[in-house]
Amino acid sequence: TTPVILDCDPGHDDVFAIWLAAAHPAIDLRAITTVAGNGSLAHTTLNARIACTVAGIHDVPIAAGADRPLEGELHVAADIHGANALGGPALPEPDVALDDRSAVELMRDVLTEASEPVTIVPTGPLTNVATLLRQHPELLARIARIVWMGGSTGRGNSTPYAEFNAWTDPEAVHETIASGVDVTMVGLNISHQALVTADVRERVRATGTRTGAFGFELMEFFCAAYAQVEGMPDAPLHDPITVAMVADPAVATMVRTRVDVELTGTHTRGATSADLLGVVPGERNANVALDLDVDRFWSMIVDAVAALR
Ligand code: BDR
Ligand code: CA
Repeated sequence: TTPVILDCDPGHDDVFAIWLAAAHPAIDLRAITTVAGNGSLAHTTLNARIACTVAGIHDVPIAAGADRPLEGELHVAADIHGANALGGPALPEPDVALDDRSAVELMRDVLTEASEPVTIVPTGPLTNVATLLRQHPELLARIARIVWMGGSTGRGNSTPYAEFNAWTDPEAVHETIASGVDVTMVGLNISHQALVTADVRERVRATGTRTGAFGFELMEFFCAAYAQVEGMPDAPLHDPITVAMVADPAVATMVRTRVDVELTGTHTRGATSADLLGVVPGERNANVALDLDVDRFWSMIVDAVAALR
């Protein structure tokens, strides 16, 4: 099994990433850390605890991290995720506690205590990860790899060329890649292959679990929001593709290439330049996920929801 720290900003699709990481037998989920992104830190942290409460995940520490990007203001994604970042279902009172440590302290402890390097899976802005790398450069060798949902090989979703997680904290993307850690970018180009069709929603509901019922309501809200905002009635379930790739590398293809993030562009701040042409000078510094085995991915999601309570 692969030891994993999941760093997230739940968020509808982040919830499925938590569930897949907790349920998949190939993953040993050691910690969940939260960051401001889809909602305020207070909301994303509460939502992580709710995701664990619904699914009966009681053995994973949860710690809160950064409440804003390294630079600039936070702009939450309330149009897609609702005012509480988890619109749709009635939310239960959480029955899992928040760890006393900060996200960076919890990551530090997990990395230090593990007997092997740990994989970090961020599904939100990279603020916590970049802060960890700033404060603890000595822990770089303890990180096996980083598999991040963010960026795009093509167009964006927050601005014409910037994806939300990259656009929220471009400096954090730059610092993470520049650290030399093994980074995989799971961007919109692949996440838009994971479309939540009516058939997918029905399979999630048909699991008959409490998690499935809650997940179905999340998907209904998420699809309605995407229909409204992006004219896409089958929303893309971005975040859990990262977890799926860690659990089963056969679920997606990737290429090694050069990735740079735009920090100063007049209209393109937060855009990721992924050199699929092989023309940009400089070393190949990242892996870029390309093609998703869609059936395999949805089977993993449905199996996870069925295995939880
Ligand atoms: C990313 O932004 C968030 O809204 C989602 O949770 C996902 O991490 C997609 O651009
Ligand atoms: Ca997210």
